[in-house]
Amino acid sequence: MTTDAKILFALRANSDGVSGAQLAEQLAISRAAVWSRIEELRQVGFAIEAGPHFGYRLVGEPDALLADDLMARLGQTKVVGRDIRVFEETTSTNDVIEKLARDGVKEGAVVFAESQTKGRGRLGRKWMSPTRKGLWFSVLLRPNLQPQETTQLTVASATALRRAIHSVTGLSAEIKWPNDLLIGGKKVVGILTEMSAEVDRVRHVILGIGVDVNQDAAEFPVELRKIATSLKIEAGGEISRAELATEILRELDVDYVRICGGKFSQVADEWEAGCATIGKKVSVQMGSRLIRGCAEALDDDGALLVRTEHGHLERVIGGDVTLEK
Ligand code: BTN
Repeated sequence: MTTDAKILFALRANSDGVSGAQLAEQLAISRAAVWSRIEELRQVGFAIEAGPHFGYRLVGEPDALLADDLMARLGQTKVVGRDIRVFEETTSTNDVIEKLARDGVKEGAVVFAESQTKGRGRLGRKWMSPTRKGLWFSVLLRPNLQPQETTQLTVASATALRRAIHSVTGLSAEIKWPNDLLIGGKKVVGILTEMSAEVDRVRHVILGIGVDVNQDAAEFPVELRKIATSLKIEAGGEISRAELATEILRELDVDYVRICGGKFSQVADEWEAGCATIGKKVSVQMGSRLIRGCAEALDDDGALLVRTEHGHLERVIGGDVTLEK
């Protein structure tokens, strides 16, 4: 953790205030250095009061994602979030992290952007990423999985996101296989999993996650208003993006550790319980092929098993799934 992250951690743990002398001792720096770091934190938007009786006290937070702040909130995790970087603007966070992956950065690194100029979704679609309205980020993983098993990670991301959204907002999102979270039938989260692999070995996986957090309805393009929503619209008030971001990383870490420990079946059970797809009639567009049938279950690798109108069981690992009415 950086010095700023440690100061924020201490201020949050002591809401009545913490003295400069205590901070200096905990961080093994001078009181003048504490004062200078506090000034820097004020510059980026933290409201920190100072007084002779209480020392320093955190009374307000900026609506910005800051790497130090996210690290301080997150605390210790096993893998996800060990290295957090925040950019004001990028093309796509998946591209930034792909470069880090090629440079040999360790798994668990996370890149957030306050806005993306070339955010992308599945199947070549564009992903809108308006400034400071959502969470646009990518996570680098290097799992010991076969390429065909990486759907497990998309499935795990959906369960982790669902838990995090519930604990921060109280909202219950439904999962649509494999990568969407919906509230009231409208999309609020999309996940784009990209992979670099050899025939039988995964080099790395990038989980690209987009969460629509604080948009008002009018901020969505007209053509999206019937199919997309934000957490603010559904919860009826602004959501702290920093709080949500850290809760998501914490839950992703939990599920990643479960998968690495061979416990995908636990994740799959939770996924099925929160899933809007299982038991429903679906149509799946896979390239030029259209499958219609009933979504029955997930298999051990996270693929969707669809019983077709002709009674065959089809294994779906990609494509566009539509829930039929
Ligand atoms: C989808 O639903 O089609 C997936 C959308 C994924 C969007 C996120 S935003 C952060 C990351 N960077 C991108 O360019 N895309 C993903």
